[in-house]
Amino acid sequence: MILVTGGAGFIGSNFVLDWLAHGDEPTINVDKLTYAGNLNNLMSLRNDDRHIFVYTDICDTEQMLSLLMAHKPSAIVHFAAESHVDRSIHGPAEFVRTNINGTFSLLEAARSYWSNLIGADKENFRFLHVSTDEVYGSLGPNDAPFSEVTSYAPNSPYSASKAASDHLVRSYHHTYGLPTLTTNCSNNYGPYHFPEKLIPLVIANALAGKALPIYGDGQQIRDWLYVGDHCAAIRRVLADGRPGETYNIGGWNEKANLDVVHTLCDILDELRPLAAGNSYRQQITYVTDRPGHDRRYAIDARKIERELGWKPAETFNTGIKKTVQWYLDNQEWVRDVQSGDYTKWLEKNYSQREMSADKKHQGVA
Ligand code: NAD
Ligand code: DAU
Repeated sequence: MILVTGGAGFIGSNFVLDWLAHGDEPTINVDKLTYAGNLNNLMSLRNDDRHIFVYTDICDTEQMLSLLMAHKPSAIVHFAAESHVDRSIHGPAEFVRTNINGTFSLLEAARSYWSNLIGADKENFRFLHVSTDEVYGSLGPNDAPFSEVTSYAPNSPYSASKAASDHLVRSYHHTYGLPTLTTNCSNNYGPYHFPEKLIPLVIANALAGKALPIYGDGQQIRDWLYVGDHCAAIRRVLADGRPGETYNIGGWNEKANLDVVHTLCDILDELRPLAAGNSYRQQITYVTDRPGHDRRYAIDARKIERELGWKPAETFNTGIKKTVQWYLDNQEWVRDVQSGDYTKWLEKNYSQREMSADKKHQGVA
């Protein structure tokens, strides 16, 4: 069996579903169920004995160690984190607690467990740390994409906390020999993406007739990867990645935010047309930029392709259409996660931002 942390979140739940769809190795899923954790994502596994859910905090080293001793997993796949950049700007403390201290606790539990293993169990054990391209900072328009040897230059409390966790993982391999693997991935999108993030937020707001908030000029670039491709990449790294190595994972899909939002509006115009030939593009609204906003991310994913034979199966066009369709088909899931604290977050993040009148509605042809 493998132990997954944060398996009730966006990527973690996609991974658990994907893992169990590709084999029979059971999963023990450890999650604290923060606002971002949602057991509805795993509803299809409710009668599946291969999935064991444990409600706990990765910061609890003793509990993590006793879970490891009791279930004897062959690997830990570590997703649990605070993941939203804007939240890290409003409240960085929780990012330090979970992303840095939590990873430290987990590493301590893993080191203790692993050092008592013997033979093949010890040899084959892996600690896979799921990280982000944001640790590398921001690229200029003509810079080469981030590779595994790009220097770290994190710019937000979120990316700084992830960078710190990457360094801890690296040190546990170097110092103690713990067989670690680190993956640094670009922006994911797909089913179960929490609607605080750009793509699901824009779909939800468009359908609700609300503003589609574009930070700054909307020309910031992200390298988008369909979440199923990320899950496949993690499976490849876990199977054949070399301990101590890092692997960059990306979609070769650099897009400016405004282009992404235009694409979403165009797909919605086709699938859920508005009355009288109106376009969802009319809801585009420019708002005050995110402080310290990174201008461009791009991943050089040649190492994982060369060494492990992974490349993305989806293009942005195929992945984004599937994603919009998934949100249209799963409005109840969206309504559920929008209850409670979600409304307070929208108020906190957007009410103080000024709308820039000159650019408002510029998206309309
Ligand atoms: P998410 O916010 O959707 O999910 C995080 C999960 O971790 C939630 O289920 C939450 O309940 C759980 N969690 C948080 N704190 C915890 C704690 N202390 N103990 C146990 N569980 C806890 O995040 P995501 O977008 O699915 O990202 C998963 C991982 O992938 C993160 O480590 C993130 O840094 C990384 N990553 C994300 C992206 C992306 O585009 N979303 C890209 C690259 C890397
Ligand atoms: O690059 C990987 C990272 O991608 C992950 O490590 C993070 O966990 C994940 O949240 C994501 O970070 P971003 O900050 O890039 O994602 P987000 O969806 O928040 O924003 C994408 C871009 O859209 C970014 O340039 C900010 C912009 N944006 C976002 C929101 C929420 C807007 O213009 N308006 C918005 O309302």
